[in-house]
Amino acid sequence: MRPATTCVHAGGGAEPATGAVNVPIYATSTYAYAAFGEHRGWEYSRTGNPTRAALERAMAVLEGGVDACAFASGMAAIDAVTDLLASGDEVVAADNLYGGSFRLFTTITSSHGVAVRFVDATDPAAIAAACTPRTRMVFVETPTNPLMRLVDLAAAAEVAHRRGALFVVDNTFLSPVLQRPFSLGADLVVHSTTKYLNGHSDAVGGVAVVREAELAQRLRTIQNSAGAIMGPFDAYLVLRGVRTLALRMAAHETNGRRLAAFLAGHAAVREVLYPGLPSHPQHELAQRQQAGFGAMISLDLGSLERARTFCEALRLFTLAESLGGVESLVCHPATMTHASVPADERARLGIGEGMVRLSVGVEDGADLEADLAHALSALR
Ligand SMILES: Cc1ncc(COP(=O)(O)O)c(C=O)c1O
Repeated sequence: MRPATTCVHAGGGAEPATGAVNVPIYATSTYAYAAFGEHRGWEYSRTGNPTRAALERAMAVLEGGVDACAFASGMAAIDAVTDLLASGDEVVAADNLYGGSFRLFTTITSSHGVAVRFVDATDPAAIAAACTPRTRMVFVETPTNPLMRLVDLAAAAEVAHRRGALFVVDNTFLSPVLQRPFSLGADLVVHSTTKYLNGHSDAVGGVAVVREAELAQRLRTIQNSAGAIMGPFDAYLVLRGVRTLALRMAAHETNGRRLAAFLAGHAAVREVLYPGLPSHPQHELAQRQQAGFGAMISLDLGSLERARTFCEALRLFTLAESLGGVESLVCHPATMTHASVPADERARLGIGEGMVRLSVGVEDGADLEADLAHALSALR
């Protein structure tokens, strides 16, 4: 089936007891046994909950994996994935990750005896050079946040597998509608469901999807043992969001392309970072690897002062962290999402103080363009 159909049907089907066409919110912590020593397939809601299970089935189908585990946040999902590692193991991670993932790796993961090396993952040779016999995991995001660089997933998967390492892809920025990492060799796909999957900026959550059964079993054990599960109310919201994911991604994408082209032609903007622009250095890879270019755009306005003036002049783009909701947002990475990345590391990566990141929503594109034009006119 094609993505729009899968989004509507995956993990669904009429509920057996009543025929309800949507999975109910199973607000229960526990389940009555049918008889002594005989449960009905559900024992306790940390271990399993039918609402969460419906979302997990949907995510496994959408990404093309065998199973998925839903967590209380994207970070909880990524943390659970790092629990697959043991003290003495090593991770090779992309150097341009979401700031929270960088913080997790450098504070929590490393304190558990797992060494993390950060590399420019846009270069498969750099990943290979950083791998040692102890490397057990390669972890990347693509497009990267906020620099919008791409990792060649097939090439990176090949490097990871040659070293016997698991290849993990954070697919939050594109969603399974626009990018399918398993088809390019990933072993695990993680998402912050807070973003496009839920799509309405009203619930924090995460999911990890697994390609093979043995690994899925290990992740289930981690989910049940550590217990950072997604609750049934949030699972219901995310699954409802998934039903319109294909529609929303198409609308986001249309607006993203339009605004990127507009910004690229504006004299007040130094540089526009968007894989859909022919000027993007990896435009050809984006065409090959992705089913679309998405709606995340970063732009360089030259200075902190200009970035501040621009953000303050916008009316439709709300200044807020996060992305992927129906409403357009603007973010200043150096003081917001990437404030936890040390200043020298930000400078080395090229996350300047004049950089602004847009999450383009599904409002009318002409209104959004007018808002950007108005805010840019405030710059001198
Ligand atoms: C790419 C990416 N991965 C992971 C996360 C973390 O997700 P959460 O905020 O749901 O914990 C984020 C959050 O912004 C993100 O942008």
